[in-house]
Amino acid sequence: MSDSLKQIQQSLWHHITTAIKDNDGLPFVDFMRMALYQPGLGYYSAGLKKFGQAGDFITAVELGSLFAQSMARQFADVFKQLQQPVILELGAGSGRFCADVLTALDGLSSSAQYLPEQYLILEVSADLRQQQQQQIQTLSDDLKRRVTWLDKFPDTEFNGVIFANEVLDAIPVEVFQFKDNHYRRLILNLDNDQLVEQWHDFPDELLSQIKARELTLPDGYRSEFIPHLNEWMAGITQYLNQGLVLFVDYGYGRDVEYHPERNAGTLVCHQRHQANFNPYHDVGAQDINP
Ligand SMILES: C[S@@+](CC[C@H](N)C(=O)[O-])C[C@H]1O[C@@H](n2cnc3c(N)ncnc32)[C@H](O)[C@@H]1O
Repeated sequence: MSDSLKQIQQSLWHHITTAIKDNDGLPFVDFMRMALYQPGLGYYSAGLKKFGQAGDFITAVELGSLFAQSMARQFADVFKQLQQPVILELGAGSGRFCADVLTALDGLSSSAQYLPEQYLILEVSADLRQQQQQQIQTLSDDLKRRVTWLDKFPDTEFNGVIFANEVLDAIPVEVFQFKDNHYRRLILNLDNDQLVEQWHDFPDELLSQIKARELTLPDGYRSEFIPHLNEWMAGITQYLNQGLVLFVDYGYGRDVEYHPERNAGTLVCHQRHQANFNPYHDVGAQDINP
């Protein structure tokens, strides 16, 4: 491990343990947010090589241009029916999808009728945003002028496509346990500088979100949910007047996700193309996904 990575991880660990001490415990969701997105230090924010052979995992976007070309055809079909469509991509990773989609749409028609005037990117990682900007610089002037980065959800009406590949599974989750007919929330605490898991009551607002799923679970069941998912989705789509929302991801239907036998949850971590099930291992140097 390089010295700079070691320093980044030590600094991240310091932030996490300080948050635990200051608050007398840290909900897992906040631990995961810090491990992945703490500015300058988290897995997605610290400049590590994540995608591709030299990284930790590979997405369809990074395998070649075929995925983006296929999506571009779908987008073009939608654009035919819309006035002044735009693309909004969430979590654009290396920026390759954006570059490949714009190139593919450009190639679909010599009159450029399928090229959106604007390709908006909403990205939480400042480091990835920088990588995306470098990737977009490789495009022609006519394509790159269309790309803009947003700092928040759009706040004016638009038509077009909202797209995200493997973003839903990069969003921090609450871990819950269902025991003695109660839902409890995973809180991390410290015991001799070691992380320990504790179960506390959920605040009412989160309790109602998990209860609203009306799950039938065996005693001792442990799993996860994305908190405030409905509000997040509503925020993203609120100003989409006409168009398509397309989220591509791995996942299960609700019955399989919360199957009684899947009683240890779905969290999986990736490092150097190996999977493990310990989110507390090598914090900041591995991806964590529900
Ligand atoms: C697994 S990567 C996928 C990157 C890219 N879409 C691909 O398929 O290669 C997850 C991406 O989502 C971003 N991300 C996570 N949560 C986000 C959020 N709430 N809003 C926007 N981007 C987010 C991460 O920073 C990262 O760029």
